[in-house]
Amino acid sequence: MAIGVIDNCAEQVGKEADMSNFRFHCPVKIVSGEHALDKLPGEFKQLGAKRILIVTDAGVAKAGLLDLVQETFDASELGICGIYDRVPPDSPLSAILEIVALYQQNNCDSLLAIGGGSAIDTAKAVKIKLADPAIDLMNFKAVLRMVKPTCPLIVIPTTAGTGSEVTSAAVISDPEKGIKLSLITPAMPPNTAIIDPRMTATLPPRLTASTGMDALTHAVEACLGTQKNPISDAVAGQAIALIAENLVEAVAHGLNLKARLGMANAATLAGIAFSNSMVTMVHALGHSLGAVCHVPHGDAMAICLPDALEFNIDTVGDSLAELLLPMVGPGIYLQTPPQKRAARFIQAIRDLRAKLNELSGLPISLKDAGVRDDQLQAVADLSPSDGAAYYNRKKFTAAEALSVLRKM
Ligand SMILES: NC(=O)c1ccc[n+]([C@@H]2O[C@H](COP(=O)([O-])OP(=O)(O)OC[C@H]3O[C@@H](n4cnc5c(N)ncnc54)[C@H](O)[C@@H]3O)[C@@H](O)[C@H]2O)c1
Ligand SMILES: [Fe+2]
Repeated sequence: MAIGVIDNCAEQVGKEADMSNFRFHCPVKIVSGEHALDKLPGEFKQLGAKRILIVTDAGVAKAGLLDLVQETFDASELGICGIYDRVPPDSPLSAILEIVALYQQNNCDSLLAIGGGSAIDTAKAVKIKLADPAIDLMNFKAVLRMVKPTCPLIVIPTTAGTGSEVTSAAVISDPEKGIKLSLITPAMPPNTAIIDPRMTATLPPRLTASTGMDALTHAVEACLGTQKNPISDAVAGQAIALIAENLVEAVAHGLNLKARLGMANAATLAGIAFSNSMVTMVHALGHSLGAVCHVPHGDAMAICLPDALEFNIDTVGDSLAELLLPMVGPGIYLQTPPQKRAARFIQAIRDLRAKLNELSGLPISLKDAGVRDDQLQAVADLSPSDGAAYYNRKKFTAAEALSVLRKM
């Protein structure tokens, strides 16, 4: 997957993190809580919006989540001027262009995305295309340079994984050309994210587990790469603690709103962290598994995370050792000798995965995910040039990626 980045995309791999010089940016207002949805009309009013276009997908609509949102508008003078409820997975360009046309035909003035990363990223890309109709969305350098004012966008995440509600990225695809592109620009983040646990309570256990492992990987990798900094460390540490406390419960008892809120907040925190610190080798392997073998992103994260961390342990062992504290709490952390904490952290991830596998069938090996041996070389060849590999502190080759993949 081609990746555009905010900073100069000069080679970062092999560099040390510079914890005393950094930039941190999160322009998104977050409204979170068990009835956060009630605040939606007021948030749109503050943004001067009157005519709203909803962007969502069929699964979200079928789960009844659209009705829950529409009810909040009943007593307000705001109008829903259109609903696009068939966003396909991975935000294809064709859907983005259809939504742009619908927005213009219905004289809309703002966007509301309800869904996981696919619906949210689609709405983000629509916002960019509306601001600059001449822009070629498949040219990430052009999108990176976009500075025109954009229309208001509020997002309501319904998965607790990607963190797209707070990131500067939109991952879009052109299936006809076989391209998947991560567009990054400071103009991309939504104005507001409404985090309401009722919106994730309908997510089935298998998807809850998979997207939750994506959020965990964002938080862990935010603490490991060359762009690591003290603020993203703090934010990511809290995300890890919330995931350790709530992911198994959210998978086992989906209607537990406390666990759902914990996971939703965790995914948002992890999104804030990795949007600033970027992700590293686990995502590089995962993107390549997605491209070659079509392994869903969260499943790929669950499969790759422990073995990729083990490969990097000689470079990032100190950081991994500190992540043991939010993962298992002070009791086990203090009982574990400092030199064993990094390995113990990786073991805690393996234990979590095993539990999720037992509860939901989450795949935890490449074989479980249907990946064939003869596909591994192609995955390994792609990984070192993936955008996420740029931020890995330890340089790795395709041969090393292959040996890590063989362990999975
Ligand atoms: N912008 C970013 O920063 C960023 C980061 C990582 C990934 N992504 C992208 O996000 C996309 C994946 O997003 P995702 O993992 O959130 O999944 P998704 O949005 O593709 O949704 C997965 C499925 O879950 C269903 N679903 C979602 N919420 C539901 C709910 N509450 N109840 C019932 N069903 C529900 C959807 O209908 C869909 O069928 C990919 O395209 C990925 O590349 C973006
Ligand atoms: Fe991810």
